Amino acid sequence: MTHENKFGMFIHWGTYALTGVQEQVYARMDWSREKYEALMHAFNPVKYDPEKWVLLAKEAGMEYICFTTKHHDGFCMWDTKYTDYNIMHTPYGKDVLKMLADACRKHGMKLSLYYSNPDWHHPYGYNPASTHQWKAVMSNDIDNGIYREYVKDQITELLTNYGEIYTFYWDIPPKVYDPSLNELVRKLQPGIFINDRGYDKGDFSTPEREYRTTEGTRFTRMTEACNSVGEQSWGYRSNEDFFSKRYLTTSIDRMMAMGGSYLLNVGPDANGEIPEEYASRIRRVGDWYRRMEGCLVCHESDPFDYKVRKGNPIVNIKDGKSYFHFYEGTVSSSVALRYFPKLPKRVRLLNTGKDLNAAIEALPEYFQAGIAQTHLHITGIPIDDLSDEPIVIEIEW
Ligand code: GLC
Repeated sequence: MTHENKFGMFIHWGTYALTGVQEQVYARMDWSREKYEALMHAFNPVKYDPEKWVLLAKEAGMEYICFTTKHHDGFCMWDTKYTDYNIMHTPYGKDVLKMLADACRKHGMKLSLYYSNPDWHHPYGYNPASTHQWKAVMSNDIDNGIYREYVKDQITELLTNYGEIYTFYWDIPPKVYDPSLNELVRKLQPGIFINDRGYDKGDFSTPEREYRTTEGTRFTRMTEACNSVGEQSWGYRSNEDFFSKRYLTTSIDRMMAMGGSYLLNVGPDANGEIPEEYASRIRRVGDWYRRMEGCLVCHESDPFDYKVRKGNPIVNIKDGKSYFHFYEGTVSSSVALRYFPKLPKRVRLLNTGKDLNAAIEALPEYFQAGIAQTHLHITGIPIDDLSDEPIVIEIEW
């Protein structure tokens, strides 16, 4: 089992959805504790129907959902007995995590849990070694040991009461080394994958909001990239600055072609719905992703050195077929490979599902010392109709 090349949905949901600003509105807009924490008394997401979330993720080809059980504000989205600052004490009063876990199980969706280390509500949450402490309760007698016991109690609930959990997403590295936390996670959920933002380095890395990476063409460590559909927030933002389909699909293609997983985030609103402006973007990305026919999952790097004339594709191999990922599109309606093992049996443009012509030809632009050089010349790419997504060419040898 590995956590490679999985496409998933990240969900940031909490009482902050009521503000329509951002998941960290409390700190970033410098609200008072009274004003922020009073939000829980207004949180009543009567339209919450987690099956709709799960089906949206499924429709987009996603295999898992990662849900914020507790964000930096310290508010808990499950029935925890270790604080009253939780969903059971809102007007809604139902365990939304339990409902989500049931919906996931019903539809074969894996469930992952996000848990913030910074905690702006717990009396001992302040951790001077870490970041995002802006609203921490600055007790005079800082005692991280007490807070860590609380964390252990809470993760015990989370990893015991909600069935099988796929990955565990610590957020904001505490910069304190304490392997006993991940040991507990693994004891409770032996098959789980843990990210690198906890008390030790965990199983996988988490580049965030990154579009390009400098790592070459293949991650050397298990990796899960994440981004939201919009630029300013992970939680619901009523006037969010949304990313283009071009930007999102390019980022996903690139990270997954390099062997990474990818979490694409949405922020449900205070009614409990994923607003159409968010959902439509998931659908659009999902439409592209499904046309990739699973080629981004469980592939290897293609070792053959094709010397592709233009563009800088990542080339992977799966089930004996090569996949050329032009994550920023091809520059013309053709692709020319200087070297190739043989004449392909079939060449397809996955974006359209249609066959492309491929011939071994001497091309006038490419010659050396007066001698024409032959290429595998793949032609007929409807480049201008595909300007908003990466282009993927499948070659069956
Ligand atoms: C950052 C943000 C946080 C968000 C997370 C997602 O750490 O502080 O709000 O939940 O990224 O990875």
